[in-house]
Amino acid sequence: MWKLYVTAAALIAAPPSAAQAQVGVSSPDRRNQATVELREGKLFYGLRRDGRLLLLPSQLGFEFRSAPALRDGLRLVDTARTSVDETWTQPWGEVARVRDHHNELRVTLAEAAPPNRQFTVVFRVFNDGVGFRYEVPDQPNLKDFEITEELTEFAMANDARAWWIPSNRPRLDRSEMLYSSSPVSVMDSVQTPVTMETRDGRTFIVIHEANLVDYARMNLRGARMENRTLRAALAPYADGIKVRGHTPFVTPWRTIQLADRVTDLAPSVLGLNLNPPSVIQDPSWIKPMKYVGIWWGMHIGTMTWSSGPKHGATTANAKRYIDFAAANGLGGVLVEGWNVGWDGDWIQNRNAFSFTQAYPDYDLAEVARYAHQKNIKLIVHNETSGGIDNYERQMDSAFALYHSLGLDAIKSGYVTDLTSEGHSHHGQVMVRHYRHVIEKAAQYGIMLDVHEPIHDTGERRTYPNMMSREGARGQEYNAWGGEGGNPPEHETILFFTRLLAGPMDFTPGIFDILIERGTGRPRRPEEPRVRTTLAKQLALYVVLYSPLQMAADLPENYEHQPAFQFIRDVAVDWDTTRVLAGKIGDYVVVARRERNGPSWFVGAITDEEGRTFDIPLSFLTPGRRYVAEIYADGPRANWLTNPLPVAISRRPVTAASRLHLVLAPGGGQAIRIRPAR
Ligand code: NOJ
Ligand code: CA
Repeated sequence: MWKLYVTAAALIAAPPSAAQAQVGVSSPDRRNQATVELREGKLFYGLRRDGRLLLLPSQLGFEFRSAPALRDGLRLVDTARTSVDETWTQPWGEVARVRDHHNELRVTLAEAAPPNRQFTVVFRVFNDGVGFRYEVPDQPNLKDFEITEELTEFAMANDARAWWIPSNRPRLDRSEMLYSSSPVSVMDSVQTPVTMETRDGRTFIVIHEANLVDYARMNLRGARMENRTLRAALAPYADGIKVRGHTPFVTPWRTIQLADRVTDLAPSVLGLNLNPPSVIQDPSWIKPMKYVGIWWGMHIGTMTWSSGPKHGATTANAKRYIDFAAANGLGGVLVEGWNVGWDGDWIQNRNAFSFTQAYPDYDLAEVARYAHQKNIKLIVHNETSGGIDNYERQMDSAFALYHSLGLDAIKSGYVTDLTSEGHSHHGQVMVRHYRHVIEKAAQYGIMLDVHEPIHDTGERRTYPNMMSREGARGQEYNAWGGEGGNPPEHETILFFTRLLAGPMDFTPGIFDILIERGTGRPRRPEEPRVRTTLAKQLALYVVLYSPLQMAADLPENYEHQPAFQFIRDVAVDWDTTRVLAGKIGDYVVVARRERNGPSWFVGAITDEEGRTFDIPLSFLTPGRRYVAEIYADGPRANWLTNPLPVAISRRPVTAASRLHLVLAPGGGQAIRIRPAR
């Protein structure tokens, strides 16, 4: 790691004066400029790129219960500047090395009249966007507080087109929804990250947050009828309070990622740069891996989580999956439904879950021993149904048990909307809970894959054991068939929205596209199915990044399938990532080089349109000879009428070669490019 503080610009304190009521800070490349100004005692910020306004003056401040708003009668007390240019290495990720290059401006303000409260807004401006947060020091007139509203605005200068999922469904705190697209001006309330494209196509803007530690998750309240101004909308407690705390405190960073081309949005590192460095001294036990699981069977109805004749989590079944993983070079096996608590309505009976007691037909210690002997990681499943008190009560004994059995990975679940006390699933109570679990897991040496999580705000930088999460509509929706499952465009939107926040455990790799083999009978037209071609399922391993990548289908559905070789071969940890082509909702082509190795992998996916791409392989090392192993949609493949044909071919390539990719409607292509032997 190298560190360079640009000393000339460092810590220049400006004397407070009314004349300096506007201050600005630019990105290192000078293209992005944030300004902070006081207008009649109120605080605003704005944002320009290449001199063009992206955010009009947007208000900052807070409203409290039992205290006046921190919003009016403000005066500038002090400003300070710093610059940072350092590069750090991720233990695992979409890219190995990340450059943190930014200019920081701290603006300290105070109320000119009693209660004379003081706070600082900190802006960090990078070439790829801006982050800002509030810092409130300990002070006599601001100790304990209850925030009823964070007044932060994002006043969009342009009626940009946005891709979003809603956040205002009554009593539904979910991210598992299909994306919509609309101009900002008619957008209602949305979750972040929300991705926007200005009308002229010149700028892509992504609003999100970073380093959410002890606060409520931020959604955005819509601009509808309000002239394109988005407002922070914090997920509430049951009594409507948003955040409870005491000074000193800092808010999460509010982030605005910027790019000229949509293909420059990923991989997104802005949020990672706004999180503190890792606190895990030796992360060598934290390992990306592929895994199979006793899982899909429950979703298609051939197995149950609950006890009974179809119980999936039996010792014998687990050993069969472990054998399969070991025989195919996969790293892990997930077993769901192993623990007592699934019988009856498991979503309602959240307090019935035991996280230590197995069903009688599942011998946890024996399965752990067998997995260890075969060098397979057993991933322990902890579904909580949102019963976080029940979980927290058992966490120490459960994690100690897993640790004693050498188990170091958990997939957790939070299938619930509101908590039992009526707080938001995304509010401060749950933010604290998820963080508590990350810390406990780190203490016991456990990696995490969280389903029904709060959106990713870059926690993995500080806690690299926080590896993957769901937090969007994954493959499971294709098994259930609600709303017809995921439409063919779904993953081409996920890539430019949800995945900008962080890895997603989408669970790709369903080969039995029509879900017939598992159920043992032909499918009726109205029954659930996967709405992609088989080749597209392969491409998703490269496109939708996750350090824990599932081969989601039943092991028997991979037997005698030559295309399964791609899942065996594909890497899960990357040195370099290049987005070669993309259009939100239409297509994505990504190339990634494996970490610590010379091979590249290319994934291309399309929506319901067939498409072709001409891809120069200039990213390969010049002068080196490679072999491209190509898994393409086969003749007349089509997601709707003919999803299964995969054409597997090989050809020698070099950095001077071009590949012509032909994708079927709803199709994809997956390519491994390895050095020639
Ligand atoms: C929803 C999760 O997304 C899924 O993966 C899991 O199998 C079920 N909950 C049960 O925990
Ligand atoms: Ca889910």
